[in-house]
Amino acid sequence: MTAAALGKTAAAPAQTAAKPLVAATDIVQEYEQPDGKMLRVLDSVNLTFERPSINMLLGPSGCGKSTLLRMLGGVRPWNVATPTSGRVEIDGQACVGPHPDTVMVFQHYANRPDMTVRENVLYPFGFSEWKRRVPPKEATERVDQMLQEVGLADKRDQYPSQLSGGQNQRVALARALVLRPRVLLMDEPFGALDAQTRSNMQDLLCRLHAAHPCVVVFVTHDVTEALLLGDRVIVLSTQPARIIDDFTITERQPRSQQWLMGADVRVMYERVVAHLRASGGRGNMRVTV
Ligand SMILES: Nc1ncnc2c1ncn2[C@@H]1O[C@H](COP(=O)(O)OP(=O)(O)OP(=O)(O)O)[C@@H](O)[C@H]1O
Ligand SMILES: [Mg+2]
Repeated sequence: MTAAALGKTAAAPAQTAAKPLVAATDIVQEYEQPDGKMLRVLDSVNLTFERPSINMLLGPSGCGKSTLLRMLGGVRPWNVATPTSGRVEIDGQACVGPHPDTVMVFQHYANRPDMTVRENVLYPFGFSEWKRRVPPKEATERVDQMLQEVGLADKRDQYPSQLSGGQNQRVALARALVLRPRVLLMDEPFGALDAQTRSNMQDLLCRLHAAHPCVVVFVTHDVTEALLLGDRVIVLSTQPARIIDDFTITERQPRSQQWLMGADVRVMYERVVAHLRASGGRGNMRVTV
């Protein structure tokens, strides 16, 4: 394994004067169980994201990935104080609620069934925060441009029920990126798609990220997807989740099938799978190499 292929562990915050784009410090999250006992889900998680990059987050099923992702976005689980302790900062400012520079995309793309594709992508600009930030003319121009970029310009007047799963996920991605977020949080966004559509969406995400750089934190159960997309791969342990691995991949995008089949990638792949297996084997990881 070459040093160039597998970067050094990136867990420690860099000693630079500039504030990282996103910093999560000593995050501990506990949930109250029906019997009144507290379940510790995240334990002393420290993460910083210095610059635009694609960061893949893996861990066994139920370990706390979605919880961590929501915290990075300042979103509180219903009726739960978030975080139980710790601090999330975006550009050095404490993030204590939904942040306008942060957008989430889910596996179930949450498109409004009563709105056309174009109306769905325009939808966030109707909220007061975005009305204040972006004049209506610029909003519609951005939407039309984004529909071109995700390849849905010809579907703009159709409704979500008339689209495939991949096309619906393109709508969700367009609605997120049209806001030009600094942080894009993606929770298993391609998990429900067939292999060919997932591959197309992975290519699309890389192209869109090159055109609209931001910090992407992407939860996946698919180790190959993590190695294909990630500038950095972060692995959480089983509950209470801690970071058990954190490495960078320097290979440029787009990454070829030949690279993916190489010995360096095999080492990275085995390393991540070993962590997931060691975490109790409850993880429903997908093995596609
Ligand atoms: N609002 C909540 N109240 C109580 N417990 C919760 C709440 N949200 C999540 N949990 C519990 O916290 C743990 C972590 O949940 P989370 O959804 O973050 O895991 P995950 O790693 O995303 O799981 P998966 O791989 O299935 O998507 C689980 O045991 C879950 O039952
Ligand atoms: Mg989850």
